[in-house]
Amino acid sequence: MVTGERALTLFRKQRVLNIARAPSSQMVKRVEDMAERIVVRVAGSDDAEAIGAVLRASYPKLMAPAYPADVLARALPFMVRANPALLRSGTYYLAATPDGTVVGCGGWTFERPGEPGSAIYPTQGHIRHFATHPNWIRRGIGRTLFERCVAEARAVGVQRFECYASVVAQPFYAALGFVTVGPTTIELEPGLTFSGPRMICHLTNRATDPP
Ligand SMILES: CC(C)(COP(=O)(O)OP(=O)(O)OC[C@H]1O[C@@H](n2cnc3c(N)ncnc32)[C@H](O)[C@@H]1OP(=O)(O)O)[C@@H](O)C(=O)NCCC(=O)NCCS
Repeated sequence: MVTGERALTLFRKQRVLNIARAPSSQMVKRVEDMAERIVVRVAGSDDAEAIGAVLRASYPKLMAPAYPADVLARALPFMVRANPALLRSGTYYLAATPDGTVVGCGGWTFERPGEPGSAIYPTQGHIRHFATHPNWIRRGIGRTLFERCVAEARAVGVQRFECYASVVAQPFYAALGFVTVGPTTIELEPGLTFSGPRMICHLTNRATDPP
C-alpha cells in the first residue's frame, strides 16, 4: 500500500522525471520549423554524389578540432566516401531542403560497421555514417535523421542502438539518449585505425522520449 507521504514523494519524482524528459518548448518549435522545411527520405544509389559532398564538407571541418591532422589526413579519404552498401540498405536516410539540396545523412543497419560477416542480433542496430553539412549544424537535422532511425528500427523490433561515435559527435549522441560505454577503434585498412567513444542507446523507455 502506498501511504500519503510516499504517494507525494512518488508524484514529485515522476514530475521531475516528466520535466526532465519533456522537450523544451524552444526545441519543439525548432524541430517543428525544421520539419516544415526539411525532407527526410531513404537514400539510394543515385544519391551517392550528393551524400559524398555532405561528407566531404562535414568530416574534415568538424572533426579537425578533435583529431591530429596526420590522423585525419590518412583516415578521411576512407570516411568521406558514400558507402554503397549503406545506400542499398534501405535504412540510410538523407535530409534535403525543399529545392532538393542534400544537407545531412545518417542511418542504421543490423551489421556492425567495419566487421562484414560479424554476428547479427535482431534486437540490436548500429548507427551509421551521420553527417550534417557545416552550414546546417545545430538546426535539428541530425536529431531528425536519428528519430527516423528510431522509428524504423523500433518497427522491426530493434531495442538498442550501438554507435561507434567520433569524439566530436559524442555530445550529439549524448543529447539523443546515448551513454558512453567505452572506447572503440575501427580498422579502416591494415595499419590504419580510427578511435572514438562506443555509445549505446536503449530504444525502450528512452530518456529523451516525451512522457
Ligand atoms: C554530429 C552531427 C551529425 C550533429 O548534427 P547536427 O545536425 O548539428 O545535430 P542537431 O542540430 O540535430 O543537434 C541535436 C543536439 O545534439 C547536441 N549537439 C549537437 N552538436 C553538438 C556539439 N558540437 N556540441 C555539443 N552538443 C551538440 C545538442 O544538444 C543539439 O541540440 P541543441 O542544438 O538544441 O542544443 C554533426 O555535428 C556532424 O556532422 N559532425 C561531424 C561528423 C561526425 O562526427 N559524424 C558522426 C560520426 S559517428
